[in-house]
Amino acid sequence: MQKKIFIITTLAIIICCLIFFLTLYKHTKNVYVDITPIATHDNGMEFIDSSTCIECHQQIVEDHYKTAHYNSLKVANDETIKGSFKKEHNSFRLNENVIFNMIKRSSGFYQEPIIKKQSTPFYAAKMDLVIGSGTKGQSYLMWNKNNLFQLQASYFTPTNSWINSPGAPDKLTPARPVIERCLECHTTYAQNTSGNKNGNQFHKTNIVYGIDCQRCHGSVIKHVKFHKQHPKEKTAKHILKYSSLTRQQRLDACALCHSGLRTKATERAFTFMIGDTLANFSSSDYNETNLEDLDVHGNQYDLLKASQCFKKSATLDCTTCHNPHKKERGNIAVFNQKCIDCHTTQKKPINCSGNKNEIKKMGNNCVQCHMPLVNSKIMKIQVSEKDEVSVQVRTHFIGIYNKTSD
Ligand code: HEC
Ligand code: HEC
Ligand code: HEC
Ligand code: HEC
Ligand code: HEC
Ligand code: HEC
Ligand code: HEC
Repeated sequence: MQKKIFIITTLAIIICCLIFFLTLYKHTKNVYVDITPIATHDNGMEFIDSSTCIECHQQIVEDHYKTAHYNSLKVANDETIKGSFKKEHNSFRLNENVIFNMIKRSSGFYQEPIIKKQSTPFYAAKMDLVIGSGTKGQSYLMWNKNNLFQLQASYFTPTNSWINSPGAPDKLTPARPVIERCLECHTTYAQNTSGNKNGNQFHKTNIVYGIDCQRCHGSVIKHVKFHKQHPKEKTAKHILKYSSLTRQQRLDACALCHSGLRTKATERAFTFMIGDTLANFSSSDYNETNLEDLDVHGNQYDLLKASQCFKKSATLDCTTCHNPHKKERGNIAVFNQKCIDCHTTQKKPINCSGNKNEIKKMGNNCVQCHMPLVNSKIMKIQVSEKDEVSVQVRTHFIGIYNKTSD
C-alpha cells in the first residue's frame, strides 16, 4: 500500500514538474524574441535589419535587395564601387592641367588629382561611401572626422567611365558638404549631429544604409515581435497598412523623394513618416503647374499629376505601375500591360488614335511613344573636356509627343 502511494506521489510530482517546465519553456519562448536594433531615430523609433523580415516575407526581401532603392547608399568596397581601378580605365582628365587618378590600396579607395608637371598628387581623398545604385551613375562620399563630403570624381554608367561630378566646375574644387536632405532621399536614416539642417556632421554609426522596408513601412519592431509570438496569425498586426491610406498619402510616400528638391521646408529631414501629409513638411520653390519647371530627373510626382491619366482617374498612383519591391527596369512589357489594363476597362475604352502601322512596328510599345526618354535640364554630365551631355530620364508626363509620326 505504502509502495503504491509512494509511486503515485512520485509520478504526480514528476508530471507537475514536467507541466511546470513545459509552461516555463513555452513562456520564455514567447517572451524572448531576439531583435537587436541597428540604429535609433531622433524621435526614439528603433530600426532593425531588414534580414529580420526574411523569416516571413522571403520573396519580398530577396527582390528588394536587388532594387536601386536598397542599393542607393552603401559602404564603399570592391562590389559597391562600379568604376574601374585598372590601369588606363582608372582616370579622367578634368582640364588641360589636371588628371584625376583612382587608386586602390589596402587601406581603401582613393581619388588623387595630379596637377601638370607635379609628381605627387594634390591630395588623396578616401571614398568611404557610395551614393547611387549605379543605374545611371554614382558619387562618392568621404568622412572627415564626423563630417561628410561629396568628392569631385563620380562615375557615369552609360559611358562606363569616371567623370567630373554633375554640377562641379571643370577645375579643382573643395569637396562639397553633404547635408541631411541629400541623405533623406538616398537612405533610410542618418542622424545629423550638427544642430542645423545645413550642417554636414552625422553620427557615423547611427545610419541605416539604403532605402529599406522601414523607410516605406515605418516602425516594425512591434509587428515582428507579435508575429513571432503568434505564428498562426495571418492578418498583419502592428503595422501601417497602405490599403488604409488616402490616395494623397500613398502618393506622398513616394513624393517625399520623387517631387524635386522641395527646398521650402518647415520641418527637418527624416521627420516625415508614412501616412503623413507631405505639404505640412515642405513645398517646392517652383510652379508645380508649369510643365517647363518640372524636371524629369527626380520629379516623377508633379509630371504624373499633370497627365490626363492621373487627372481623369480616381485611383492612379505610383504603385499602379510600379511594384515597390521589385527591380523592374527594362521590363517594358509589364508597364505596357498596365496602360492597356486600365485603358480597356474604362466604361468607354480609351483607344490609341495613333497610326496603326507605326504602333505595330513599335510592338505596341505604349511607353516609348507616350512616356519618352527626355533630357534632364538639371542633371548634366561633362563626358570629356569639351562635351557635356544631359542624362536621359523617362518622363512621367504621359501625353502625345509625336503627332507627326505618320
Ligand atoms: C514572424 C513573421 C513575420 C515577420 C518576421 C515579419 N512579418 Fe510582416 N507580416 C507577417 C504576417 C503574418 C503578415 C500578414 C500576411 C501578409 O501580408 O503577408 C505580415 C504583413 C506585413 C505587411 C503588410 C501590411 C498590410 O498592408 O497589410 C508589411 C508591410 C510587413 N508585414 C512588413 C514587415 C517588415 C518590414 C518586416 C521585417 C522588419 C516584417 N514584416 C517581418 C508576419 C511577419
Ligand atoms: C527615401 C526616398 C525615396 C522614397 C520614399 C521612394 N523613392 Fe524611389 N527612388 C529614390 C532614389 C534615391 C532612387 C534612385 C536610386 C538609385 O539608383 O540610387 C529611386 C529610384 C526609383 C525608381 C527607379 C528604379 C530603378 O530601377 O532605377 C523607381 C521606379 C522608384 N524609385 C519608385 C518609387 C515608388 C513607387 C515609391 C513609393 C512607393 C518610391 N520610389 C519611394 C528615392 C525614394
Ligand atoms: C519604396 C517603398 C517600399 C519599400 C522600400 C518596401 N515597401 Fe513594402 N510596400 C510598399 C507599398 C507602397 C506597398 C503597398 C502596395 C500596394 O498597395 O499595392 C507595400 C506592401 C507591402 C506588403 C503587403 C503586400 C505584399 O506585397 O505582400 C508587404 C508584406 C511588404 N510591403 C513588405 C516589405 C518588406 C519586407 C520590405 C523590405 C524588404 C518592404 N516592404 C520594402 C512600399 C515599400
Ligand atoms: C529630393 C530627393 C533627392 C535628393 C535631395 C538627392 N537625390 Fe539623388 N536622386 C534622387 C532620385 C529620385 C534619383 C533617381 C531617379 C531620377 O533620376 O529621377 C536620384 C539619382 C541620383 C544618382 C544616380 C543614381 C543612379 O544609379 O542612377 C546619384 C549619383 C545621386 N542621385 C546623388 C545624389 C547626391 C550626391 C545628392 C546630395 C548631394 C542627391 N543625390 C540628392 C533623389 C534625390
Ligand atoms: C488608372 C488608369 C490609367 C492608366 C494606368 C493609364 N491611363 Fe492613360 N488615361 C487614362 C484616362 C482616364 C485618360 C483620359 C481619357 C480622357 O480624356 O477621357 C487617359 C489618357 C491618356 C492619353 C491621352 C493624353 C492626352 O493628353 O490627351 C494617353 C496618350 C494615355 N492615356 C496613355 C497611357 C499610357 C501610355 C499608359 C501607360 C504607361 C497609360 N495611359 C496608363 C487612364 C489611365
Ligand atoms: C502609368 C504608369 C506609371 C506610373 C503611374 C508611374 N510610373 Fe514610374 N515609370 C513608368 C515606366 C514605364 C518607367 C520606365 C521603366 C523602364 O525604363 O524600364 C518608369 C520609370 C520610373 C523611374 C526611373 C526613371 C528613369 O528613367 O530613370 C522612376 C524614378 C519612377 N518611374 C518613379 C515613379 C514615381 C515616384 C511614380 C509616382 C509619382 C511613378 N513612377 C508612377 C511608369 C509609371
Ligand atoms: C508609334 C507610337 C505610338 C505607340 C506605340 C502608341 N501610341 Fe498612342 N498615340 C500615338 C499618337 C501619335 C497619338 C496621337 C494621334 C493623333 O491624334 O494625332 C496617340 C494617341 C493616343 C491616345 C489618345 C486618344 C484620343 O482619342 O485622344 C491614347 C489614349 C493612346 N494613344 C494610348 C496608347 C496606348 C495605351 C498604347 C499602347 C497599347 C499606345 N497608345 C501606343 C502614338 C503611339
